Amino acid sequence: MISLPEISNSAAFKNPASSSAASPLAPEWLAVPSDLNALHAPVWAGGVERNAGGELAIDGLPVSDLKEQFGTPLFVMSESDFRARARAFKDAFDAAFADICGGVDVYYAGKSFLCTAVAAWVAEEGLRLDTCSGGELAVAARAGIDGANLSLHGNNKSDAEINRALDMNLGRIVVDSLDELERVAKIASGRGDTAKVMLRLTPGVHAHTHEFIATAHEDQKFGLSMAEDTTDEAGLSAAEEAVAAATSYDSVELLGLHCHIGSQIFEPDGFALAAQKLLTFLAAVQAKYSITLPELDLGGGYGIAYTPVDTPRPAADIAQAMAAVVRSKCAELGITAPRISIEPGRAIVGSSTFTLYEVGTLKTVRVDAPAAGAGETAGKNVTHPRRYVSVDGGMSDNARPVLYDADYSAILASRTSAAAPQLSRVVGKHCESGDIVVRDVYLPEDVAAGDLLAVPGTGAYCWALSSNYNYLARPGVVAVRDGSARLIVRGETEEDLLNRDMGA
Ligand code: LLP
Repeated sequence: MISLPEISNSAAFKNPASSSAASPLAPEWLAVPSDLNALHAPVWAGGVERNAGGELAIDGLPVSDLKEQFGTPLFVMSESDFRARARAFKDAFDAAFADICGGVDVYYAGKSFLCTAVAAWVAEEGLRLDTCSGGELAVAARAGIDGANLSLHGNNKSDAEINRALDMNLGRIVVDSLDELERVAKIASGRGDTAKVMLRLTPGVHAHTHEFIATAHEDQKFGLSMAEDTTDEAGLSAAEEAVAAATSYDSVELLGLHCHIGSQIFEPDGFALAAQKLLTFLAAVQAKYSITLPELDLGGGYGIAYTPVDTPRPAADIAQAMAAVVRSKCAELGITAPRISIEPGRAIVGSSTFTLYEVGTLKTVRVDAPAAGAGETAGKNVTHPRRYVSVDGGMSDNARPVLYDADYSAILASRTSAAAPQLSRVVGKHCESGDIVVRDVYLPEDVAAGDLLAVPGTGAYCWALSSNYNYLARPGVVAVRDGSARLIVRGETEEDLLNRDMGA
């Protein structure tokens, strides 16, 4: 097991609070902002700023207009920001890998956020699309994406999904287990088809992220282990067994290897290490089985900024670091570099979107914590206020704080305020005390019911993980471009919810 540096949401990446006005209840990394009205650019989409009236606006559209047209809660997405980040990834990786394998195929990970409009933008920007279910394939088909530019993932693909992939003549099916390999081969053979297959391997690189989103260590459901199997007579790893089996099936065309080491990763070391391990394995099986594996997919997982103290690297830095490793490893192994592909989701869509909420109930609680400083009360328990600011959504539109202890930030969006900063907790309206949207944030102390709050960085895995808990209707998603907004996903209505209830 190789240790990587700590990543986002961990104390190591967060600065100590600097201001003396900091609440002892605040986490160490949370500084009191010098200006509560200012936007910290890295967490926002391009084109989001305060207008002359002090209101938050996107491409010149004030949030009050968005609320009036579409209501709250609302996911507000910048189409140009999404497209720019998609292009930036493609351009950065193409440039870095140009001399190695003629560029990189970038598959946008649809699981982070997918709808027909987004699938169409992805194709228009020259990216491909990574799907992981029949439903995602249906969206891709609706957007008119050529099957050759699609991949299908998943550790438990149904026969229907495999058949659908073959019907759509998919560019690649990423096979996750020996069991599935056999099933894919059988189904393809039964249809007189050939399935284009990549094998997902677990290189044993464990990105130090939240344990539920680290996916390349051994003891988990995804992928074929590269570790030697001591119970196998020949001592072959599951990965090698799969290569041997895949090459033996007439109905399977083995394109290459795949890995994905986790998500919200800031440093390139883990990607580089995984690339080295897969290239070493690729060289060995190419020689042993006299085959050529033309493709290597290094997955997604590139981190973004959620709070002012998260500092992800530009795509170009990561691309260059990974390219350097692939170049030197291929030279060392004496192999022609395979065509590289990657699967970023969060890094393309995450920062393109903010969620707009309306403030409702407010309450302040008092919590004991040791007093700071050197005064009479130093070290003694003193009561400190924490303000609970309730909004009209919550864990049904953003499950990430509950699931992963994810940190977000929030800003008063409908106006500016000169009031003092107050340590606040933005909470939802669900019947759960863990229903937290932003655990710790300084908001102006005059925040009141009817104000609008904006939470940036909600493009990835928020709408995608949304639910109808407590019979809340899922919010819509608007895309803003050149100053006008259009719904790309309609918000649900009560009628939508009741439609599926078959009645008494
Ligand atoms: N490729 C594969 C095979 C994946 O499993 C994933 C994400 C990606 C690419 C895209 O990863 P990204 O670039 O978006 O980090 N719900 C969690 C993240 C789960 C990631 C699942 N797989 C979260 O909200 O943090």
